[in-house]
Amino acid sequence: MPETHIEWWRDAVFYEIYIRSFADSDGDGVGDLGGIRERLPYLRELGVDGIWLTPFYRSPGADHGYDVSDYVDVDPQFGTLDDFDALVATARELGLRVIVDIVPNHSSSEHAWFRNALADPSHPDRRRYVFRPGRDSGPPNNWPSNWGGPAWTRDERSGEWYLHLFAPEQPDLDWHTEEVRDDFEGILRFWLDRGVDGFRIDVAHALYKDATLRDEQEPFPEAPFSSDWRAAVDQPEVHAVYRDWRRLVGGYEDERVLVGEVVFSDPARTAPYVRPDELHMAFNFTLLFQGWEADGIRAAIDRSRAALAEVGAPPTWVLENHDVTRLPTRYGGGAEGLRRARAAALLLLALQGPVFLYQGQELGLEEVDLPDEVRQDPIFRRMKGVRKGRDGCRVPIPWDDGPPGFGFTSGTPWLPIPDSWDAKTVERQRAAEHSPLALYRSALELRGRLTGDLAWRESPEGTLVFDRGGVVCAVNVDAPPLPLPDGEVLLASDEHPPGELPPGTAAWILVA
Ligand code: GLC
Repeated sequence: MPETHIEWWRDAVFYEIYIRSFADSDGDGVGDLGGIRERLPYLRELGVDGIWLTPFYRSPGADHGYDVSDYVDVDPQFGTLDDFDALVATARELGLRVIVDIVPNHSSSEHAWFRNALADPSHPDRRRYVFRPGRDSGPPNNWPSNWGGPAWTRDERSGEWYLHLFAPEQPDLDWHTEEVRDDFEGILRFWLDRGVDGFRIDVAHALYKDATLRDEQEPFPEAPFSSDWRAAVDQPEVHAVYRDWRRLVGGYEDERVLVGEVVFSDPARTAPYVRPDELHMAFNFTLLFQGWEADGIRAAIDRSRAALAEVGAPPTWVLENHDVTRLPTRYGGGAEGLRRARAAALLLLALQGPVFLYQGQELGLEEVDLPDEVRQDPIFRRMKGVRKGRDGCRVPIPWDDGPPGFGFTSGTPWLPIPDSWDAKTVERQRAAEHSPLALYRSALELRGRLTGDLAWRESPEGTLVFDRGGVVCAVNVDAPPLPLPDGEVLLASDEHPPGELPPGTAAWILVA
């Protein structure tokens, strides 16, 4: 059993495992549960507290698992329920928590519920989805899908249309229907009884849509997330679901947690989701959409802390996940991008509150510019290449050996791993004192020494300096060399002259 302390999650570091791309145990080129289990000691050694597993449920794979056709079984591609149990058991032995993804906004179009709904318009399962007559000769309203085209597809048989905020293979469930709520409670219990420590809730803010289906105002604004402007989502009814779920997980021993993918740019809109009787945590994407710029980073941190302090929840911190471009690439790419990403790692891990890392972030992996013909993300197809999609951050992990499998698979990886990653393998980085992996390991080991509230120190423009207990985190974003406070340098993101930090460098200094 992991050591339990009250509210263990408040300062936990979670490691996101994108299941297809972590480790393949059976040679089919796609990651699986057995592969993850074999590699768990690596995560123990890295020093994270827990893992978040992306969906491994039965799925036709239209959105690589985020289209679930059976919520209480493992997709044969990823293993079996026994493999899942074995994975949880090994994680426990190693003291690692396991949280799993749950996808309640939509099912797969191959789910028995949706198949029944399509086969017979009078079937009770039809009420689980949002079917409506069209308007004039088109869809019921003007809602767009997040991935291009309308959010409605016509059911040719009945002539009605069904709603899908994502791909047509992902019909939205109608949460106004009692059975949907009941079923998801059963699904949560199924996995809690199997020993999971909690859930990451996909698209958590969107379960309820405006019941009147009124049009959205056009033109649709440009915004990082459609939820920033969609009036149809973020409906008040959703909070009753999370209050029920909080009670439900509260009935289990040890603290099981709920983390919402609540997708707003403004943390003030996230706050209601993490009131004391709702979700424990919600992703905070403010840093993820902030470039390498000191004032913006500081404002993102302050806004997040202020918004969540009001409800007593800790802000979570995220720089990468399976939906966004890799950090070194976002920060300009090449040696400079990597340097900044290393400095950002020390900033990230110095912040108070739960942190979510994405597999490969600790290796400093860059976005891979894949040829169009190997791309598999539905976004690429649906947006006709206008958006390249998310495959570039989902390239499998290079463990050891050389191309093509890099120890990820004995077969052919489902997305090609660039030959240049020979220099970035886990094996190489383990052996190298100054690798990104070594930096993350040291930071994770030392993170416990950073305590208490963050307190900003005055510092020159282009820099960020703050105290966490007796440790100062100093970041020179893009300023002339920053003089360091007196004290012992515990860790620095790169080599630096004594007493000062060049631009693109961060350090932790023991001052007390
Ligand atoms: C979330 C997931 C993303 C998925 C989408 C639809 O945003 O993180 O990968 O495509 O939901 O389920």
